Order: sequence, then C-alpha cells, then structure tokens
Amino acid sequence: MLSNKKIGMIGAGNMGNALIDGLIGSGATGPENIICSDANESQLEVVQQKFHVATTTDNIKVVNASDIIIYAVKPQIIASVLRETADHLDMSKLIISIAAGVPMAAIEAVLNKDLRLIRVMPNVAVAVREGATAVAAGGHASKDDVRLAMAIFDSVGKSIFLKENYLMDAITGLSGSGPAYIFLIADALADAGVKVGLSRKDALFLASQTILGSAKLLLETGSHPGPLKDSVTSPGGTAIAGLHTLEKGGLRTTLINAVEAATNRSKELGEIVIKNFANGETKT
Ligand SMILES: NC(=O)c1ccc[n+]([C@@H]2O[C@H](COP(=O)([O-])OP(=O)(O)OC[C@H]3O[C@@H](n4cnc5c(N)ncnc54)[C@H](OP(=O)(O)O)[C@@H]3O)[C@@H](O)[C@H]2O)c1
Repeated sequence: MLSNKKIGMIGAGNMGNALIDGLIGSGATGPENIICSDANESQLEVVQQKFHVATTTDNIKVVNASDIIIYAVKPQIIASVLRETADHLDMSKLIISIAAGVPMAAIEAVLNKDLRLIRVMPNVAVAVREGATAVAAGGHASKDDVRLAMAIFDSVGKSIFLKENYLMDAITGLSGSGPAYIFLIADALADAGVKVGLSRKDALFLASQTILGSAKLLLETGSHPGPLKDSVTSPGGTAIAGLHTLEKGGLRTTLINAVEAATNRSKELGEIVIKNFANGETKT
C-alpha cells in the first residue's frame, strides 16, 4: 500500500526516527521512498547512517519530493513550518500532523486552503513499535488517505480510526498521556515489592513484565478485563485481598478522574492554540 508512495518526514527527532525505523523495519516501504528534513544537520547524519534515507535541511524540498508529508516537529514550531511550506502543498499531497495538542482547526487556519489533511495522536511507545495511535481525517481526506495514515502508524504499533474528530482530546487524555500513568503505576508496584522485601531490580522487572503480560492477555484473548480478573481471584485468596484494598483506595475513580482531567486540559490548550494560530502567533 505504501511501497509506491514517496514519504516525506519533516523533523528527524524522536518521532521521526521511530517512524522511519518502523516503516523500513516492518517492510512497509524501503529507504528509497523516504526523504527527511531537519533543522539540525547532525540529527540528519544520524538518520542517514541508520536508515540510508535521503536527507536535507530544506523542508520545501521534502514537500516537493513527497506524496505523503508527515510534520514531525514540535507543536511550538509547526505553525511556522506549515507556513513555510504552504505554497508547495496541494490536493495531490497527503498531509499528516502528529503535533500533540494542535487541533485540525488550527492547522486549517494556518494553511487556509483545501488540502487532504490527517491528524494523528500517537504515543511514546512507537519507539518500541507498540504505539497506540488514533487517526482523524480532515474534510478533504478520503478513506484511502486514512488507510495510508493507518498503515504508517501500524508499522510502529496499532492504530484506530476516530470518526469523531473532537474526540482527539479524549485520545490525548487516555492513550496519549497513558504511558505516564502506567509508568507511575509501575513505579508504585516496584515500591510495593521493595516494601515486602524484594530487591528494587527484581521488583521493577516483575512489575513491568506483569503489566506487559496482562496487556497481552487482554489484547490476544479479546476478553473483557472482568472475566480475566475473576479467573485469577480465588475465594478467600490473595488477589481478592489486594483488589479490596485497591477499591477502598478508589483506584477506578482516580484513574477515571485522571483521564477526564487530562482530556479537559487538552481541550483548554487546543482552544488557545486555535486562537493563537488564527492570529498568526505560533505559541502553543
Ligand atoms: N515523542 C512523543 O512521544 C510524542 C507523542 C505524541 C506526539 N508527538 C508529537 O510529535 C512531534 C515530534 O516530537 P518529537 O518528540 O519527535 O520532537 P523532537 O525529538 O524535538 O523532534 C523534532 C525535530 O524537529 C527539528 N526541527 C526544529 N525546527 C525545525 C524546522 N524548522 N524544520 C525541520 N525540523 C525542525 C528538531 O531539531 P532541533 O532539535 O535542532 O530543534 C528536532 O530534531 C511533536 O509535535 C510532538 O507533539 C510526540
């Protein structure tokens, strides 16, 4: 699907690197189909040596050479990079923004013409090809455009299509910010292991592997978490004693509140970004 498309990556940082790695490593496309730009030449050298893709410091060259352009620069500078490249964008090109917290409306306000636009919200786990990504389409993007975007992000994990664009804030609150919650939970479980006598190293390893294994069980069995929880909870046993304590501590409510708070914050920040971008400012 992607092998006959030229892909341009603007920004060769964490995300740019992870995406190029996934695209080539998964066989989705070859290095000859990728061109990458960055303001930082040493960053480009790394990418060139690691992946053998074409590199340049000229963002416009990337746009002109590509069918699909991924804007993988920081949210603070995406408006200026969009403005710099806007005259070279037209309906023949698919434009993908991965800038966290930058709503489609803000991008449309900067570009101010009909373009095939996709907004994507990945998470940090793309670095280990286990990203959880949501893909939303702008007015002029087709179903094929969505498939192309999903193919790119499926090379670094798994993606879903989000029909309701406005739910991107909920995605930011759940899977975008989610790794932070899980890291905190892993750290707390490791502390707990140390409290009951394990070494820090063993406790953190066991906590992390338990999170990985439990996630795999959920995804591979397709089961609701309830029956899986029930299957490891024997009458009068250890797991139910632990679960009772978690319920007393309000774990469910706390997690629901956390996702809701992050979603609301994403909404607030998004509204500021839309206002600033429309006013010609780039501050996010
Ligand atoms: N990392 C994540 O987990 C994550 C998750 C979800 C979404 N995102 C989004 O992904 C985007 C990229 O994040 P990142 O973590 O990959 O950032 P990053 O590591 O800072 O990479 C951005 C790259 O863009 C370069 N750059 C700066 N100005 C440029 C310009 N005018 N033209 C071309 N390149 C330029 C930067 O160079 P310098 O270093 O020299 O400035 C840097 O190499 C962000 O919008 C972020 O919100 C990231």
